Formats: sequence, structure tokens, C-alpha cells
Amino acid sequence: MAKITINGVEQAVEDGLYLIEAARRCGVDIPHYCYHPGLPVEGNCRMCSVEVEGIPKLQTACTTIVQDGMVVITDSEKVVGERSDVMEFLLRNHPIDCPICDQAGECGLQDYYMEHGLHDSRITVSEKVKKKKRVDLGPNVVLDSERCILCTRCVRFCKDVVGTEELVIKNRSNHAEITTFPGKGLVNPYALNTVDICPVGALTSRKFRFQCRVWYMKNATSICPGCERGCNIWIDHHENKIQRLRPRLNPDVNNYWMCDEGRLDFHWINDDRVLRAEGPDGLMRPDEADRAVLALLSNPGDVLIVASPRSTNESLFALKRFVEVALPGAALTGGSFRPTGDDDGFLRLPDKNPNSRGMREIGIAGDLENRLNGSAGVVLVFENDLLGDRPDLESVLAGKKVVAFTSNRTATARGADLVVPVTTYAELNGSFTNHAGLRQEFRSAIRPPGDSRSVFDVVKSLSGLLGKELGWESETALTKEMTDVITGWGVRVEEETELHAG
Ligand code: SF4
Ligand code: SF4
Ligand code: FES
Repeated sequence: MAKITINGVEQAVEDGLYLIEAARRCGVDIPHYCYHPGLPVEGNCRMCSVEVEGIPKLQTACTTIVQDGMVVITDSEKVVGERSDVMEFLLRNHPIDCPICDQAGECGLQDYYMEHGLHDSRITVSEKVKKKKRVDLGPNVVLDSERCILCTRCVRFCKDVVGTEELVIKNRSNHAEITTFPGKGLVNPYALNTVDICPVGALTSRKFRFQCRVWYMKNATSICPGCERGCNIWIDHHENKIQRLRPRLNPDVNNYWMCDEGRLDFHWINDDRVLRAEGPDGLMRPDEADRAVLALLSNPGDVLIVASPRSTNESLFALKRFVEVALPGAALTGGSFRPTGDDDGFLRLPDKNPNSRGMREIGIAGDLENRLNGSAGVVLVFENDLLGDRPDLESVLAGKKVVAFTSNRTATARGADLVVPVTTYAELNGSFTNHAGLRQEFRSAIRPPGDSRSVFDVVKSLSGLLGKELGWESETALTKEMTDVITGWGVRVEEETELHAG
């Protein structure tokens, strides 16, 4: 540990930390643009300049490593004056775009101008250097060159995090601009992280730009269901619709990042939802749907229940208990026919289900294909689009009574005899267990649409109709029993701890 004095207060900090990070851990926020804790330091914006006793010139806190006995001042007249000058310099050619800029409300320039700038501009609008306003850098990212402050976070992300090096700065001085190499685009599968870390409104997401003002959105902690990595995310939502997903810091899983595929995979939660139960005679209330399901369960030996590695641990645990307590004799299996991908050596993993390991550890077997080909005449399919993933199974299911418990109008739902709406992960408190055995909890972000119910509520209701009790008053009680029974599941709910990242 090193003892340093920040603004007159002596503090013990870890050896080897950059001053900006040491100060943050001591509760002193040093303003910064180019520094990002997930990137190598570069020290180009000078916003983090501080006084270090014994050194005549101001030092950049993001490139200075703490030394024992260091005395640092972050709020002297000299430091405050330097920050204001840096702000004036950065804003010299910045366009007056705030009213139409997507970054407004979460912009490093807006925030720091109010905190550290408040200067009057010495130039007129017509004197500003004009640059391109809408440059398609790649399929997902749009650049507004005038807004860029040349912090190089995006350049370093591509070079040092992904290793694809698509972005560079061309030209010098007022004419310097972010660009790609001629004929190349920003096409790496993690490109949208550059939008998160861009501290201003220079990089925007093609899908999100102009969709929703950030101050309208609320957010919830969640886990990406796109693969078995289980990247930690924020769900940003407005008026019960998901507007965007963003990565949430978890150094043990995804650090500050997530892939574009996972990030953009949420429209199915907003759209094409099953809102009411449907049977051969039309729409049904939930109680009518449950009685219709019950009518198919008179011979448990003829019933196959199909679970999904896309379901939460809580849903799977409830389903297993339902079969044991209320429907002994029925067969329970689980698995997925979702096409697998590649392990790209960074975040994306081959299994595109978020909870395969959880399903295995709960004890639901994965001999799905054999079971489907078996003699069961009634198949209850929970959150599993069997026919969407394997259209050839149509003939296998054709002779059976199929009930689809589903959030969306999947191919399986279209071919089912009975469709019962259930919630998505975004409408649930629950957990997934990732490929490494980490059980990660998430919170519901939005309200379930229509008559959608959790699997827990569905099987609780069915058990009641069968005259059986699952034994839990609430999902909290279920979670407690589940985590008592299945040992070795660490739980981590990481809160946001990153520095101003844009
Ligand atoms: S586009 Fe954004 S992240 Fe990239 S250099 Fe400019 S301001 Fe920095
Ligand atoms: S790597 Fe997997 S878990 Fe992470 S964002 Fe991509 S799809 Fe989601
Ligand atoms: S120079 Fe330190 S944050 Fe930019």
C-alpha cells in the first residue's frame, strides 16, 4: 500500500494504481475524457490534470502512478483554471447540437461544461470548423465527426480490446478525424461498445439513434440470454418497452463489454408477443387455459414435459417440482436445438442458451430428441421453439397434443393445440447459471404484457387444480430452497462501479 495525501487528506491506496483510479477509490472524482478503466491509458485530453507537490507543471492523473508520500491537489485555482481552459479548447469547434444529439442527458461535454467550464465562447458559430455529420462507419455505428473530441477511446477499443484495429485518426490539428481504412468498415462483432465508451455524441448506434431521450428511460440490472457467457447488462426501458441493452461491469464475466449480437437481440420482447391463451375454440382466460391443460393430464404416463435452457433456474426448479409432486409418472426432459456458434476467444460462446448449465445442475436430463420420438401423446413445451429450430420435427409432433407455454408466436406456438403466454426473462426476477457455474441474478425490467405469467405461477396454478402443493408460498422461498439444495452456486449481482464512461 502507498500513503498519499489528496486535497489535504492522507489515504492508503494500492500500489501501482493510476492516480485517477486511486483518487476515485478515495471518493475524489477527477474529470476525464480519454481515460477509461477498460482501456490502456493515453493521456491525450488533459482534462484530468492535477497538481503533484514537487513537480512544477500539472500532471495528468490518468498516466501518473501513485507513489508513497505523494501529495496531490485536485481542486486548486491552477487545476480549476486548467480544466476550464481544456473545456474551452474541446468545445471550440464543437457544434451546437445538444437539442438534436442522442448523447444529450448522458454527455461528458454537457456534464463537465456545467461543472468545470461555464466559460463564454470566444468564437462565433460561423468560425467553427465543419466536418461530416453522418458517416456510416459500419453496419451498426454512425459517426458525427464534428462532435468528436479525439479522445481515441474508440480507436483503442478496436486495437487493444478486440484486436481488429479498424479505426484510426487521419489528418492533423483542427482537421483531425476518426475514420476507417479505405474500403474497410467498423465491422467487428463488438463494435457497439465504441458507442458506450464514446464520451460525447460522436458515435451513435444506428438502431438506437433518435429512438428515445435518455432521461425518459429507467434501467434494470439483467443478464444477456444470448449465450452461455451471461454478460451482465442494463436493460434501459421506457413505457414498458425495451429501448436498448448496455453492458454492465463484471470483471469476472464480461468486464465492460458485450457483443453486438446479444445487445441487439431484444426486439422479440417488445414485439409479436402472445397476449392471451389460445385453443381450438379461440382466446381463453388464464383459468380456462389451465383447465384445458388439466384435461390433457389425466394419464401422466402419456405426458412429456419439455424444459428449456433458455428458462431461468427458478422456472426450471419449479417445473421439476411440479412433475415430482403433481404429475408423477410424467416424463421431464430438457434441451435445445438452437444452432450453436463459435467460441471467438473473447466473449461469445458456442451454446446460444443462457442456462444450459443451470438446467443440468437442477437435474433435468437432455435426451430431448429420443423423448420426442417416444410414445408420449401429450407434450407440454415450456419456452422452447422446437419447430423453429428443427422444422423436421413437425411430423414427430403431428400426432401428439402439443401445449406451447411461450412468450412469442414461434413456429412451435403456431403448430400447437393450445398456446399459453408466459413471461420473458425481462419481466422476471430470476437467475441464469453461466458456463462457468456462476449463478447470476437479474431483476424484472418491464411488466408482463397481457395474460403472460411466470412458469412458476403457471405450474403453481396447475398443481392447485391437481390438488397438490409445490411447497412454496413465493418465488423467494423457491429461490432459498433451490440455492440451499444446489450447492456451489456463487451469486453475484454487480452494481455499476465504472468511472464516467460516456
Ligand atoms: S469518436 Fe468518440 S470515442 Fe472516438 S475519438 Fe471521437 S470522441 Fe473519442
Ligand atoms: S457474449 Fe453471449 S452473453 Fe455476452 S452479450 Fe454476447 S450473446 Fe450475450
Ligand atoms: S489525459 Fe487524463 S483523462 Fe485524458
